[in-house]
Amino acid sequence: GAVELGPYRHYMQKEIFEQPRAIADTLEGVQGVVPELFDGIDGDAAWRVFKDIDEVLILACGTSYYSGCTAKYWIEGLAGIRCNVEVASEYRYRKSVPNPRALVVTISQSGETADTLAALRHAQSLGMTNTLTICNVATSAMVRECKLSYITRAGMEIGVASTKAFTTQLAGLFLLTLALGQSKGHITEAQSDAYLEKMRHLPLALQAVLALEPQVVSWAEDFARKENALFLGRGIHYPIALEGALKLKEISYIHAEAYPAGELKHGPLALVDSEMPVVTVAPNDELLEKLKSNMQEVRARGGVLYVLADANTNIENAEGMHVIRMPEHYGVLSPILHVVPLQLLSYHTAVARGTDVDKPRNLAKSVTVE
Ligand code: G6P
Repeated sequence: GAVELGPYRHYMQKEIFEQPRAIADTLEGVQGVVPELFDGIDGDAAWRVFKDIDEVLILACGTSYYSGCTAKYWIEGLAGIRCNVEVASEYRYRKSVPNPRALVVTISQSGETADTLAALRHAQSLGMTNTLTICNVATSAMVRECKLSYITRAGMEIGVASTKAFTTQLAGLFLLTLALGQSKGHITEAQSDAYLEKMRHLPLALQAVLALEPQVVSWAEDFARKENALFLGRGIHYPIALEGALKLKEISYIHAEAYPAGELKHGPLALVDSEMPVVTVAPNDELLEKLKSNMQEVRARGGVLYVLADANTNIENAEGMHVIRMPEHYGVLSPILHVVPLQLLSYHTAVARGTDVDKPRNLAKSVTVE
């Protein structure tokens, strides 16, 4: 194809390693969080919409749905706006209560996913005219049909399992959060600038995470011999656990499930034994102590933990506990870092199992039929 693999074995690996560049491109030329980012013309339309809306409704499929689930924590937690996230194929067919003042946000790498397009049209038919898409293809149907758009700068993504599209969606959704928060007076310009500064350091932080690849490879050797895996996360990292599990099943065909760690005792703990690896996303946030007691529950049942711990936590390697030390806690942007070792884990597990990484069986890059 036109896109060269360079030193990489697969497009997926190349795309994982392109993420620092993709995030840097996202921020190039961004001086402040201005409405122009979302309508490309003069920002007036975006500003009017942002001022008017009182709720956000996110519609998407697959990995794009999980970026929406992550954004919900930002939009409610930082911008102070109610946010619902729905799988497009569910929303389009259920009777829902429309809110004409909602901002409908579709998220799509391709901009052509049939269910997401149909969900958008369904929302429009219910009188919701404030529509915005976070999309990686500027010429797509999604961009044409939404009032506002934010084009992610991932560049062409070839691997069926989405990686750089996901993290650039998160970057775009974070910018949207800042814009919404400012328009509602919940985020000041100074706060917004401070967040932007933090975003500008993401490419370097991502490089540090990518440098952990050899350690992830050794985890992958264990995973390649398993048939099941459990992923745990809490709060804003719960959707990251979901994405980690999705990646693993998509390309390595290992059955994987993700749970919010607090739900462990309500079912999945019954599955835990020495054959069940339990991946735990453990950032040094206010939920860490809760998470540690969940990890104890796993260890007490002979489960083997694989923990992604931030540098400034005191989680140590031990019997039945494998720790990869991430950079220092990255605050609200931490999901953008924590997803990367999970992408690498699924990639290297699939390579170890000899599956067709870039073209997994039964899956398509873009699902344009229902
Ligand atoms: C397919 C792809 C996934 C993608 C999903 C949504 O299932 O294999 O990687 O997340 O479609 O695609 P979209 O283009 O709408 O983001």
